[in-house]
Amino acid sequence: MSLKGKVTVVGAGFYGSTTALRLAEYNIFETVVLTDIVEGKPEGLALDMNQSRSIEGFETKVVGATTTAEGAGYEATANSDVVVITAGLPRKPGMSRMDLIGVNAGIVRGVAENIAQHSPNAVIIVVSNPLDEMTALAQIATGFPKNKVMGQAGMLDTARFTNFVAEKVGVPVGAVRTLTLGSHGETMVPVPSRCTVNGKPLTELLSAEEIAELVDRTRNGGAEVVALLKTGSAYYAPSAAAARMAKAVIEDSGVVMPVCAWVDGQFGISGVYLGVEAEIGREGVRNVVEGSLTPSEVESLKVAAEAVRAKQADVKDL
Ligand code: NAI
Ligand code: 2OP
Repeated sequence: MSLKGKVTVVGAGFYGSTTALRLAEYNIFETVVLTDIVEGKPEGLALDMNQSRSIEGFETKVVGATTTAEGAGYEATANSDVVVITAGLPRKPGMSRMDLIGVNAGIVRGVAENIAQHSPNAVIIVVSNPLDEMTALAQIATGFPKNKVMGQAGMLDTARFTNFVAEKVGVPVGAVRTLTLGSHGETMVPVPSRCTVNGKPLTELLSAEEIAELVDRTRNGGAEVVALLKTGSAYYAPSAAAARMAKAVIEDSGVVMPVCAWVDGQFGISGVYLGVEAEIGREGVRNVVEGSLTPSEVESLKVAAEAVRAKQADVKDL
């Protein structure tokens, strides 16, 4: 198979480095660029990843590049097809994602401006927290069309929900379908009506109380890991989610995924970045998919939209 395309991962911390390795191991990209402001860190990690190529059997070349907040070193990222932004602080136990907004806004704005200058045609996948707000900010700072900027949250939250359901019912994860929409925060909207186990509605297998418990655990999925790790947040499941999104873009696959996308009229919601199902391809979000939801799930999505709308309006000044 011929390798094609260039993907840059900004931020070589836990999320960024695991994402870069997953992308390289797909063996579909020609180049994976990994950057960080910590001198030598991205180069060292890239060297290490490249040395695993003959064992894991991939030819993708990983390039590490130290950058500065002012933009030095960004030449290495030039003309990327996809850019995953992971730069920013993770939370500590007891912190909400929203506690990161001030410091991460400064980082994400600077990164987005540098990326726009060097890769004007890229599709941007934001992961830095608070996710919905940082996605909106990246779009403002790049000035890119809204379909070319999206955020990663729904894939992760859905995967967590799936894992919890599979463990509760005692089936392989492959037998379970779940869906999580809304914000990557307090107003996350797990969607029980779209959950099945071997095609059977979850509501026929578990009681309302049991489902509510799983929904609650999903909503707190990130905090549960943070509390156990004590320093930093999750990265194995998060990196898997972002890497799959980048793969869908470069393959122009049209796969439908839950992502943070610009919503413009769907479900009666307009003018906000929100977790929804969307068809992903070479131009980023091809279109938002209005799957079936119960009236109360639509209502929860509207509540989430209003909560993030207020915060997203603030980020343009951060
Ligand atoms: P980390 O602390 O391990 O790594 C962050 C890296 O960003 C550090 O290496 C730091 O030097 C780098 N960095 C800071 N400013 C930079 C700049 N201007 N340019 C380039 N690199 C810069 O943190 P981790 O675990 O990798 O998490 C990264 C972000 O992802 C956090 O904001 C975290 O909350 C978020 N996250 C989001 C998830 C989601 O589902 N959207 C899930 C998990 C984490
Ligand atoms: C997570 O959900 C902290 O957003 C991060 O793991």
